[in-house]
Amino acid sequence: MGRGIFIIGTDTDVGKTFVTGGLTYLLKQNGYNVISYKPIQSGGIVSEDYKTLIPPDCKYIKEICNLDNDYNEMNTYCLREEVSPHLAARIENIDIIKQEIICHYKKLINKYDYVIVEGAGGIVVPLIEDKYFVYDLIKDLNLDTVIVSRAGVGTINHTVLTVEFLKKHNINIKGIIINQYSNKFYEDDNIEMIKKLTQLGIVQKINKIEDVMLENIRKEYEKIDLEKVLNLF
Ligand SMILES: Nc1ncnc2c1ncn2[C@@H]1O[C@H](COP(=O)(O)OP(=O)(O)O)[C@@H](O)[C@H]1O
Ligand SMILES: [Mg+2]
Repeated sequence: MGRGIFIIGTDTDVGKTFVTGGLTYLLKQNGYNVISYKPIQSGGIVSEDYKTLIPPDCKYIKEICNLDNDYNEMNTYCLREEVSPHLAARIENIDIIKQEIICHYKKLINKYDYVIVEGAGGIVVPLIEDKYFVYDLIKDLNLDTVIVSRAGVGTINHTVLTVEFLKKHNINIKGIIINQYSNKFYEDDNIEMIKKLTQLGIVQKINKIEDVMLENIRKEYEKIDLEKVLNLF
């Protein structure tokens, strides 16, 4: 049986997919049997034949990591509207069944050495209206978490709130990954403040890529510390 980790963002667009891609890429490059898993994706892209919705987060990771897995293996629910999953599901009249996600994850953990699960938005995002949130899913999957935080202004507040919420719900945090770092003095101070206030370690600092070509992204991914990544699981 393999091991999993749950990637949480302090917000949407902080770089959960970017970081999930990096961890997946690094493990794959080093010969590990790894897959990323996006239980619920909103903002699905209509395929060319108009028959299916493609989950964009999985599409990015497939491309950057050269994975040959099917989207069906990397994702359970793909919803059209780019809004909170509970609302996208309501609009599309889709019932999200948590047991399907749990079973999907169990299959993956039996097949792969490492499964990297990407959440949706932040920690208090509703997945099933009035019933089920991202933090409930983390508990059901019995996973530890890694928080992806922005380097820039606003991150102290977002990160500390996320950490406090996870602690309150007895969810274990393995560390924080700072994303979109661009060498600014206030980013260095943000990182120090986050370390001091949360008492958590910074697993990695990932630079902001100015020219987002695949080869530049891969070069940045290759700088990630493999030992630290293996220690997350
Ligand atoms: N380190 C980075 N350098 C450059 N662009 C980044 C970086 N991290 C994220 N991005 C870009 O920011 C946007 C949001 O990132 P994404 O990983 O999709 O966020 P999330 O999954 O948290 O919603 C994407 O367009 C992504 O390519
Ligand atoms: Mg994403």
